[in-house]
Amino acid sequence: MGMEKSYEIKDDQNIELLKQLHILTRDGKLNQDSRRKLKQIYHLVNFIQPIITKYHDRSFTLVDHGAGKSYLGFILFDLIVKNTLGSIIGVEINEDLVNKSQLLMERFNFNNMQFISQEIAKSSEIISKADIVTALHACDTATDDAMSFAFEKNADWIVLVPCCQAEIYRGLKTIKPSQASNHWVELYRHGIHSREFGSHLTNVLRCLKLESLGYKVTVTELVGWEHSMKNELIIAENIKQKNTKSYDRMKKIISDLGLEKLQFRFL
Ligand SMILES: C[S@@+](CC[C@H](N)C(=O)[O-])C[C@H]1O[C@@H](n2cnc3c(N)ncnc32)[C@H](O)[C@@H]1O
Repeated sequence: MGMEKSYEIKDDQNIELLKQLHILTRDGKLNQDSRRKLKQIYHLVNFIQPIITKYHDRSFTLVDHGAGKSYLGFILFDLIVKNTLGSIIGVEINEDLVNKSQLLMERFNFNNMQFISQEIAKSSEIISKADIVTALHACDTATDDAMSFAFEKNADWIVLVPCCQAEIYRGLKTIKPSQASNHWVELYRHGIHSREFGSHLTNVLRCLKLESLGYKVTVTELVGWEHSMKNELIIAENIKQKNTKSYDRMKKIISDLGLEKLQFRFL
C-alpha cells in the first residue's frame, strides 16, 4: 500500500531511512517530537547546503561532533553528500549509538560515512582532516571541544548549535554579588538571570574567540523560539583574518567579570 508523504518531508528524502531513524513511525507517520526534530534538521541542512556547494568537485570531510543518533549526518548524507566527493564522520562518546549508526550506514550503503566512538577532545588524534565541523546540541563544553578540534584542523567552516552551558554559570556563581566590584553584577545576581546570562555570555565569548582566530561569524536563529530554547546557530567561515579587537574585548570581558579562572577556555 502506498504511503501518503507528509508535506514536511522532502521529495528526495529516503523514507526508509527516516523510519530506521525513528523519525517516521513504521506506517510512515510523523509525531509531534519528530516533526520538531525534522524541522530543525532540515533548517540546518538548508544552511549547510550552500557551504557544501562551495566544494564543487573537490573532496571534503565534514565532522559532526556529539552526533547522537546522527540524524543530521544521515539526512545530510542522504540529501546532499552522497552526490558529492565528500564524506561525513560522526563522533560520539556513546558506543551503543555509534554501533547503531554503523549498522544503519551499512544497510544503506552510505560508504562515505564513518562513526567513531570517542570523546571530542581526543578525536583529533584519530581524525586527520576536517573541512567542515558541526556540533548540534553537543552538551555543555563539548561545543568548545568541537571548536578546539576545528581550530586544530584549520577547518574552513564551523557550524554550531550550542546546548546547555553550565561552565560560565558556575564561574559566575562563585563571585558573591556583594563582592563584585561593579554594577554589571546586576545582570546575573538572581539565579535564573545567571543561568541565562551565563549561557548568553558563553556564546558571546565563543563568537569572539572564533573572530580572534580568523573566522567570520554569523549568529542567527535555528528555528522559532516556540520550537526550542536552544536555537542559536553560529556559522563561522575561516577567512584567515585574526581579529585582535575581538581578542582584546574577550579578554576585557573575562577580567571585568572576574572569570579569569575560565580564561583557559577562550584565550
Ligand atoms: C543532546 S545530544 C545531541 C545529538 C545530536 N547532535 C542531535 O542534535 O540530535 C548530545 C550528544 O553528544 C554526545 N556527547 C556529549 N559530550 C560529548 C563528548 N565530550 N564527546 C563525544 N560526544 C559527546 C552525547 O553522548 C549525546 O549523544
